[in-house]
Amino acid sequence: MHGGNLRRAKEAYGQNTFLDLSANINPFGPPQSVWESIKESLPEIVHYPDPESKKLRTELALRYQLSIHDIMVGNGVGELLFTLVQSLKPRKVAIPIPSFSEYERAARAASAEISYIPLGAQGWAGIPPILSSEDEAEFINAWQQHLSGCDLLFLCSPHNPTGSVISRKHFQLLLEITENLDCRIIFDESFYDFLPEKTRWSARIDLKQNFHLIVLYSMTKFYSLPGLRLGVCFAAPDVISHSQQFRDPWSVNVLAEQAGIAALRDHLFPKQVRQRLYESKQFLFANFKRQAPKSLEIWPTSVNFALIQLFDQTSGELVTELAEHGILVRDCANFKGLQGSFIRVAIKDIPSMKLFLDTLSTLNYI
Ligand SMILES: Cc1ncc(COP(=O)(O)O)c(C=O)c1O
Repeated sequence: MHGGNLRRAKEAYGQNTFLDLSANINPFGPPQSVWESIKESLPEIVHYPDPESKKLRTELALRYQLSIHDIMVGNGVGELLFTLVQSLKPRKVAIPIPSFSEYERAARAASAEISYIPLGAQGWAGIPPILSSEDEAEFINAWQQHLSGCDLLFLCSPHNPTGSVISRKHFQLLLEITENLDCRIIFDESFYDFLPEKTRWSARIDLKQNFHLIVLYSMTKFYSLPGLRLGVCFAAPDVISHSQQFRDPWSVNVLAEQAGIAALRDHLFPKQVRQRLYESKQFLFANFKRQAPKSLEIWPTSVNFALIQLFDQTSGELVTELAEHGILVRDCANFKGLQGSFIRVAIKDIPSMKLFLDTLSTLNYI
């Protein structure tokens, strides 16, 4: 089960309101400009949306200095994943684990074989850095073996569920390895906007030199539109035009298209969200560490969610206890490749983080 399923939580726990830390959505809501554009666009719902979403793709092209032919939009990255896998028809798909479960579902739906690559609980942060030519050779060798026979590799960075980021060096090596093996990469950077501006880089910059690279970006999470949904795919024009034939032409509705345009034009909003989330994250980590719980450990993260490891009990028990106290967190028991007991917690505003910590304290965890 994914996070954010409030209907199920209401049925399971007989409550109507929860603090939902199970879905990794910007907690401050969409920008005001997006609310206004949705209100203004309401009369348009009597028409079909533009199947080419030309206005939105033009806005994205302008923003990311690409051509509209390099861009396809969809009803969230979730839809685009399935569209891409259906259109690429891979025989064998490599998936580093733990990972977002829809990669596997999309591969299975296309009857592809799956090869799992163990990353571990630290995600990309657990991969040894490349400091010498020996390290480089070791990395290349290991990944050539992982990718043997594969024609599609899913990479996720910032990585769900660990919040870790692949280094530029590792990624560049993977681009070379996959090119030599004739293996495409779908690079899912759905959480890109949550990264600090100073240190981040997007795989979009590698598109022009790497026709085997496809980049996915979600506007659902950072712009807080999970009920509306909007995902973007950046790739070579032939990949885009071929994949377009496999998708529902009207999956981006008129409200989502206008919301996307308004969001992209709002230049103040991203900085404000990042700053507020940074403060919340500092608060959560400082207080968690200050209380130094023996049975729990919070793992470092680059984005708006963090893994918490439990040493003395199963994640399911803590998830239930928190839900009974009105707090939903993501039980990570069904993440393949995550050894041990973990929950994933979304970072929200400071009062929410305080309530989470106070509840852990009431339950005698900290
Ligand atoms: C890594 C990753 N990619 C994509 C998605 C789905 O994005 P969207 O909501 O745009 O479909 C999720 C949702 O949790 C995710 O964790």
